[in-house]
Parts: sequence; structure tokens; C-alpha cells
Amino acid sequence: TKTYLTGIQTSGMPHIGNYIGAIKPALAAASEHDTMYFLADFHSLNSVKDPQKLRSDIRSVAATWLACGLDPERTVLYRQSSIPEVFELAIILSNITSKGLMNRAHAYKAARDRNEAAGVADLDAGVNMGLFNYPILMAADILIMEADYVPVGRDQIQHIEYTVDIAGSFNHLYGGSYSFPIPKGVFPEGDASVLPGVDGRKMSKSYDNHIPLFLPESKLKKLVRRIPTDSTPVEAPKDPDTSVPFQLLAQFAPEEHTAATRKRLEEGGMGWGELKNELFEVLNDTFGPMRDRYEELIAPDSELDGVLEAGAARARERARATMAKVRAAVGID
Ligand code: TYM
Repeated sequence: TKTYLTGIQTSGMPHIGNYIGAIKPALAAASEHDTMYFLADFHSLNSVKDPQKLRSDIRSVAATWLACGLDPERTVLYRQSSIPEVFELAIILSNITSKGLMNRAHAYKAARDRNEAAGVADLDAGVNMGLFNYPILMAADILIMEADYVPVGRDQIQHIEYTVDIAGSFNHLYGGSYSFPIPKGVFPEGDASVLPGVDGRKMSKSYDNHIPLFLPESKLKKLVRRIPTDSTPVEAPKDPDTSVPFQLLAQFAPEEHTAATRKRLEEGGMGWGELKNELFEVLNDTFGPMRDRYEELIAPDSELDGVLEAGAARARERARATMAKVRAAVGID
């Protein structure tokens, strides 16, 4: 059987982009495949420097997976930090990974571009080694579990390519003794599959343009109302494909609903305000029931911590088995 594996950083409550890009496809895969989903808590140390916040973010992401329907009997749900073998593997992989490959990583290059645009002389200013090494740690997450498929959003394509490259280097050198299975990315279909945030850029916590999954109803309504739109009058025809509220609606509303709204926008007569009301209703209907379950799970005495402990034990067993083979292959056994 094939193993599906994915991770989400623990930097705040997941947003509706995480849901479309990763959670929903990952849960669909769980009914047919071996699945291992984890909380990338060491990865999020790069952005979350407040220990109290990190603790609560970890529980928030775990509660989100469960509230969205993850069955912990079927899927192994665990924290990255419960698997120390991941870090051991990351060090081994960093010794077979060229610096040039990391120099070309999108997040690193974006940080340098920002410095250049701001006229900062040292283009590496503000870049720490956690950011620079991020793709290697992510490769270790995937390879340690011998994952076959990795369901992620399209913004992670390069990270998957890097994992394939790094696994290839390892197999080339040590393959006589042990080879990693080469993983494949599984990406959501359609061009809208990198969900836009309220400002039209990719929805991301780091841009502060995201819609968290389980906002209380009144806050959700306010946030949706604040999505910027132009001043085209109600009667005028509008282009749905350049409208953020429409693109969001299209991801969550049933197809006939989306088609009807598209028609009304194109013909004129539907205002942005009405479109936003529709979007609010659809989001609230989709996530309202999950929100109630989330609130139960986030309570301190819920079953959450037990689920994570049981998941960690299962995941660690698998990681240990891989590491024993990897150590023997490199000669540190
Ligand atoms: P993260 O935590 O930023 O996002 C989690 C998942 O959500 C997807 N996603 C989106 N999909 C569509 N539209 C968007 N606007 C959007 N924003 C985020 C991401 O593609 C991702 O699938 N590096 C990863 C975490 C990670 C990981 C791993 C994933 C660490 N190790 C190993 C898979 C396997 C990340 O930062 O995702």
C-alpha cells in the first residue's frame, strides 16, 4: 500500500487556503490509503518566537485536523517534534545537498529580493539558518516515513522537487545499501488552487491576508465584508475571474451555485456587497459545524493530547526503522 504524508506549520489557526490546498485532499486520501499527517512545529519556530503562542498553535492545528474529520484510528496524527530521528536525518541529508540548490529556494530568494527592493546592502540581512535549511528539514519529514505521495498546495511544488532531488542524491551515493522511495506531490486541480487572500495575493499568514477556518460568525462576517472591491456600480457587468470574493466562493459553493452567481455578475445587476453576503453564508455553512467540534477539542481536558501521543508512538516506530537502514547505509551504525 502507498503512504500519503503531509504537514502543516503550527503558526496560528489554519486558514481556508490550507483547507483547500492540503486538509481537504488529505482527508479524501485517508479513506483509501495509509496516511500520516503531522504538525510541523519545528518548522514554525522560524516565525513563532513566543512559547505560549506556539503551545496553543500546536493544539489549534491538531484540533483543526480532527474537527475537519480526521479519524485518528485510520490516520497517524503526530507532532514533528515527537520524532527526533527527523533531525538526525536532516543533518545527514544536509551533507549531500549542495548550497547552490538552497540558494535557489523561493522563500530564501524572496527574502533577498525584499532586501534588494528596500535598498539593504546585505541581501542576507534577516535571513536565519532555519529559513535557509527549511527545504532540507522538509525533505527529512517526507523521506523518514518513506512517503509515496505528498498532498500539498501548489506553493509547495518546489519543496517537493527538492525532496526528489535530495532523495536522488542519497540513492545515487548509498543506493547499493538503501534507497529512499521517490515521493510524488499531489496537487489540487484547477488554476484557482492557490487560494487568494483578501488582498488578491496568495493567502498566507505571513501576508496577514488570510481567513482563519473557525472564526466566530460575527468576525467572519466582518472579515468577508472588508475584502476590497472596486466601485463598479451594482447594475454594471463584472468580471468574476478577477474578483477575489468570487474566486473564494467558487472553491466552497456547489457548482450550480457558482455558475448562477457567475452569470449574474457577468450580466450586471449583482453588487459586490451581495456577492460578499453569499460568500459569508457559504463559508459559515461549510465551517460552522466543524467550528463547534473544534471548540470542544481545544479545551484543555479533551482527547487531543492522547491522540497526539498515540500518533507519535506509531510514527516513531516507522522513523526508527528507516533511520536504522539509513545509518547502516552511510556507515554510522
Ligand atoms: P503551510 O503550513 O504553509 O501550509 C499547509 C498546507 O496548506 C497549503 N496552502 C495553500 N493551498 C492553497 N492556497 C493557499 N493560499 C495556501 N496556503 C497554504 C500548503 O501548500 C500546504 O500544503 N512547508 C509546508 C509544511 C511542511 C510539509 C512538510 C508539508 C513541512 N514539512 C512535509 C508536506 C510534507 C508549509 O509551510 O505549509
